[in-house]
Amino acid sequence: MNSVSGELTNLLESSRTVPMRVFVVSRLKKRGFQILPCFFSSSRLNVDQKGTVIGVKPSEVGTSDDADCQIDFFTKFGKKLAKTFFLEDIVKRTNFKGLKGQCLPLYGLRDSSLLVLSGLGKEDSTTFECVGDYIDDGINQLKESIRVAASVGVKQLMKDGCTVIEVDTMGDPAAAAEGATLATYHFHQLKTLKQNYSKNTMEDVRISPLNAHEEVCLQSWSKGVIYAECQNLARTLMELPANILTPSSFCERTVQLFNNFSDSVRCSIRDEEWIRGQGMEALYTVGKGSIEPTMFLEIEYCSSPEHAVLQDPLVFVGKGVTFDSGGISIKPSSRMEQMKADMGGAACVVGVIKAVASLGAPGRVIGLIPLCENMPSGDACRPGDVVRTRKGLTIEVENTDAEGRLILCDALSYADELYPDARAVISIATLTGAMDVALGAGATGAFCASRLLYTVIEESGHEAGDRFWRMPLFRHYQAQIKSDVADIKNVGGRSAGACTAAALLQNFISNKRFAHLDIAGVMHASPFEGSVCPYLSRGMQGRPVRSLIVLAEKLFSKERVYK
Ligand code: BES
Ligand code: MN
Ligand code: ZN
Repeated sequence: MNSVSGELTNLLESSRTVPMRVFVVSRLKKRGFQILPCFFSSSRLNVDQKGTVIGVKPSEVGTSDDADCQIDFFTKFGKKLAKTFFLEDIVKRTNFKGLKGQCLPLYGLRDSSLLVLSGLGKEDSTTFECVGDYIDDGINQLKESIRVAASVGVKQLMKDGCTVIEVDTMGDPAAAAEGATLATYHFHQLKTLKQNYSKNTMEDVRISPLNAHEEVCLQSWSKGVIYAECQNLARTLMELPANILTPSSFCERTVQLFNNFSDSVRCSIRDEEWIRGQGMEALYTVGKGSIEPTMFLEIEYCSSPEHAVLQDPLVFVGKGVTFDSGGISIKPSSRMEQMKADMGGAACVVGVIKAVASLGAPGRVIGLIPLCENMPSGDACRPGDVVRTRKGLTIEVENTDAEGRLILCDALSYADELYPDARAVISIATLTGAMDVALGAGATGAFCASRLLYTVIEESGHEAGDRFWRMPLFRHYQAQIKSDVADIKNVGGRSAGACTAAALLQNFISNKRFAHLDIAGVMHASPFEGSVCPYLSRGMQGRPVRSLIVLAEKLFSKERVYK
């Protein structure tokens, strides 16, 4: 048995006959109540602290033993704990109702472990605890409330200095693990002074499932950890500044990430010579203003040799602009630093493939990542320049800041030629500010002509707790990108900015199962924009990595006929 639950169980055993202790209830900030025993010794809280998160629900009338109690203890363990420590009596004296996002620290019940009750909310409640006025986002609320409860509990314990935390699996160990693992993420690897980073982060907090004795439970927990860690990996790649994460260091890091997967993952790093040899002039032109060499990274995952010959892999194409200054059409300086994350699509692709490889998921998944830096210089592409794409179509570069579509179109035509029977080709890119204007951090815009593919994408989001919204790929938008001097131009005016970008990409892929995900709006969360969800702190988000892992699993699952 693992440490904390072992201790708690022992304590439960030994304290059956102990009468209820006297508790002092003190209001702590605005968060709720903290309950401390009379003989509380503050020095105890400073040692290597253990903590436990227990999920609870608001009580349903008639189901609780005590009709007055506001909450139901979810697990057997919780019920036992409640009985031993008269928790229902304590809870009654507080405002804690077990609602989603609410938590109640109960410290001092025993010598060394801090306990937090974390609310799951009512089973049928929607995200905003409100139906009718809002469109239901379809997110699996059972899973989502478990992610939230785990994350809120873990965060509370971390604030109070816990370094060893056990989390109630609440009936869905994967969801609990995701919530806990995403909540502990902080990007602090570039800070050298201890006082400059929050003490407890993933590296120094050990989180494990509470009372998870069964193999299935542990397996499900580990799966959740992989999902969340791969999203955290994408977050880190996005956070890393452009002087550290260049096209070449992106390649090196990726190769390192897959070092232990030499049986199933192959990385090929292509240089400028290869890129020019391929006729990818659009990609080459975007990168040529920078001293950082442009790269093209291919990652191939095959679960088994039989999948290696599969003609229909799932292909991801990720935008890898390690910094987007705008080039000669330079961006305004306000928030330009965020453009270090203009390789968010590429980061998601690496995250997804790392996850399927770690899970050993059946299938063949390809990642194609054009990598470059968009800079102004004497060598840079000029507005008005015309480039010849790999496919042969010519593009007039009217604005050098619309560079994402230029690098993606060459990668897409490569995907189309190499994998004509791909079961899906999905591009992921922080492509347009217009996407952020349209949907903000609310949802990833999904441009997809295939209703079937869109449905699978949407369902994957429901499971992972992330939103997608379908955007149009109408032929209508092609008119806006007609050029006077070339076949097409890279901007289509102010109207429908996200749609004209997607329309340009559509010209370079013939596979009907193509989807383009514009993640510009979900790239980042600032405190001013409101938190995206309780388990993702501000900063780069790594969305929608977990949805894409679910998607990869769905597209290769035997139960679902997807052809
Ligand atoms: N990388 C940007 C889009 C972006 C903006 C992503 C904000 C995340 C946050 C992209 O390369 C870009 O600059 N797009 C231009 C296109 C325009 C010039 C047609 C834009 O959206 O302004
Ligand atoms: Mn740009
Ligand atoms: Zn860009």
